[in-house]
Amino acid sequence: MKLILFILFISINTNLAARDPISGSRFQHLTGVKTSQDSKTQWDEKYSRPTFIYGKSPAGFLAENYQYIPYEGTVLDMGMGEGRNAVFLAQKGYKVTGVDISSVAVKKSYLLAQEFGVKIKGVVASLSDYKIAPASFDAIVCFYYVDRSLVEKIKSWLKPGGILIYEAYTTRERAKTRTGQAEEYLGEQELLKLFSGMRVLKYEEPLHEKEFRSSIILRKE
Ligand SMILES: C[S@@+](CC[C@H](N)C(=O)[O-])C[C@H]1O[C@@H](n2cnc3c(N)ncnc32)[C@H](O)[C@@H]1O
Repeated sequence: MKLILFILFISINTNLAARDPISGSRFQHLTGVKTSQDSKTQWDEKYSRPTFIYGKSPAGFLAENYQYIPYEGTVLDMGMGEGRNAVFLAQKGYKVTGVDISSVAVKKSYLLAQEFGVKIKGVVASLSDYKIAPASFDAIVCFYYVDRSLVEKIKSWLKPGGILIYEAYTTRERAKTRTGQAEEYLGEQELLKLFSGMRVLKYEEPLHEKEFRSSIILRKE
């Protein structure tokens, strides 16, 4: 009898759990714990709407400066999202690999590539544990994805002479919008220190524009 009651209890609990899944963002809100799985769920939810949330056009800084990247070179797009930058670079003749934790985003990036008649390689993975061999890329682009723990890896993934193009919002933007987690924003002039040992080719952190961002182009010596 006890065994039957126990089995009944387990099966009710399992059914309840199956019927009432907790979303990644709610789990994080309740526990304060952010894991890559939570992050994946949150981004998948965000990208589930049919429109392209960051649009289909590349970031302005990339469109203006992509020619710093060696012609026809290999490029890693970190936190590629729905592929606006990866597809733009593929159109310009680069061989692009985009890594993103969200499978929904990577699927949308393939749709975008198809729309523009180009090929990109999409990888669904967390950059925190995705393995990339040293000196794999001629260039790395990283737009609005800040993970300071990846700095040394980024340097190692670049070939000697490789180019890094990086852009993200600064803490001024956060003070204005009051959104997001503090660690997702760059400190003022932080990019200049973060990639020490690399040569700065271009740096911008304008204070007169509508949005506060910091953009840099560096070369691995
Ligand atoms: C603000 S969006 C920027 C997307 C894209 N770079 C752009 O500018 O359109 C940040 C991206 O980082 C991705 N991301 C977050 N954590 C990640 C991780 N650990 N590994 C890989 N991608 C991640 C998200 O899925 C999201 O697509």
